[in-house]
Amino acid sequence: MAHFEKANSIGEWLDQRLAVNTLKRVMQTEYWIPKDINFLWAMGMVLAATFGILLVSGIFLLMYYQPNIDTAFDSVNYTIMSEVGYGWLWRHIHGVGASIVFLIIYIHMFTGIYYGSYKKGRELIWLSGMGLFVAFSAEAFSGYMLPWGQMSYWAGMVITNLFSGGSLHADGLVEWIRGDYVPGQAFLSRFFMLHVLLIPLAIIGLIVLHFGTLRIPHVNNQEGEEFDYKEAAELYKAGKVKESKVIPFSPVFLSKDIFVMGVYFILFFYLVFYHFGFAMDPVNFDPADGLKTPAHIYPEWYFLWSYEILRPFPTDPGLIAFAFAQVIFFMLPFLDRSPNVAPASRRGAFKFWFWAMLIDMIVLTFMGKLPPEGIWSTIGLVAALAFFVLWIALPIITKTEKKL
Ligand code: HEM
Repeated sequence: MAHFEKANSIGEWLDQRLAVNTLKRVMQTEYWIPKDINFLWAMGMVLAATFGILLVSGIFLLMYYQPNIDTAFDSVNYTIMSEVGYGWLWRHIHGVGASIVFLIIYIHMFTGIYYGSYKKGRELIWLSGMGLFVAFSAEAFSGYMLPWGQMSYWAGMVITNLFSGGSLHADGLVEWIRGDYVPGQAFLSRFFMLHVLLIPLAIIGLIVLHFGTLRIPHVNNQEGEEFDYKEAAELYKAGKVKESKVIPFSPVFLSKDIFVMGVYFILFFYLVFYHFGFAMDPVNFDPADGLKTPAHIYPEWYFLWSYEILRPFPTDPGLIAFAFAQVIFFMLPFLDRSPNVAPASRRGAFKFWFWAMLIDMIVLTFMGKLPPEGIWSTIGLVAALAFFVLWIALPIITKTEKKL
């Protein structure tokens, strides 16, 4: 048994047993953040806070939700919305949070792409981030099944059908995933389990990993400048320089993060109270009916770009294109062959690549919502082809990029 001195405070008592002071030093007071960053670097903490809000509101909804195909729809649309005190508020918070979290994820991803924050030394930050993207997508999809409305049912049908692999006709796999020939009780029960237990656990694990991968390479900065953090930190602590290159994560950087979060939450609750409708599909206010297919089946806005990559092609090539779109972002650190860590504006052809990719994904998103007819389907096809051309071009244009 180790010898323990008498502790003079709770902090000291905990430190003797849990090394809390070491943890505080490593993760807070001596965790150095570059000073040359802007509000876009607060998006990570905004995401973490939104996930917290989704967890808390989800726990409240879980108290009244019933994962049963006969009662699920009413438990959400009647019990929670009209009978439970403030049930509507928790539902709106959860619905708006689930939609907005993707907007912030896309901003966070494109910030990383713009500043080259996935480059050598930071690959694991990117890969764990992409793991989070996939986990959040699965979490959103499984949650969408739970109200058991028309869109829950038919989106569940369409997405699980993808696993038949087109002409492979892997119907056994589709039935295995559904637990039945069509979405039914087994389907709802397992997506309920995934939504409230397995995927949130995976997300928590991935967030811890994502934070861990940030600690050693440190976050990037606006100019992609590499410098000696130890030296910069010594100068900061000695107060010897007028303009320090670094600030400690806590309390200095955290207070900036909290300011951005404050502004974000004003907008967030404005949406919750006045514009929650955008996060709820009107078709999903009809109960699931396996005999009545809705006129248009489309996913929520955050999946539209990848849906539009599937749609313009015949079944088999469409599935391959879709699978490509799901994994290609994981490959970014290895497809960008330039050694330059710098904002896209300073990186030759990559600057055009960045904006072309962003605009292409926005166009795909708009086209994914429109019925595939006339000019819209042509624009959708061109945008889908452009997506592939851009990814094929990336290693070539970055290989020839001039070293800065
Ligand atoms: C959804 C949950 C996520 C959370 C809670 C989260 C959290 C964070 C936090 C706190 C940071 C540090 C501060 C900042 O740069 O914002 C960060 C950085 C980073 N994240 Fe995420 N993130 C998430 C998802 C993602 C996704 C989907 C990607 C992209 C694939 C990603 C890629 C990155 C990168 C590349 C950095 C480094 C930025 C830099 O060094 O400048 N993250 N993340």
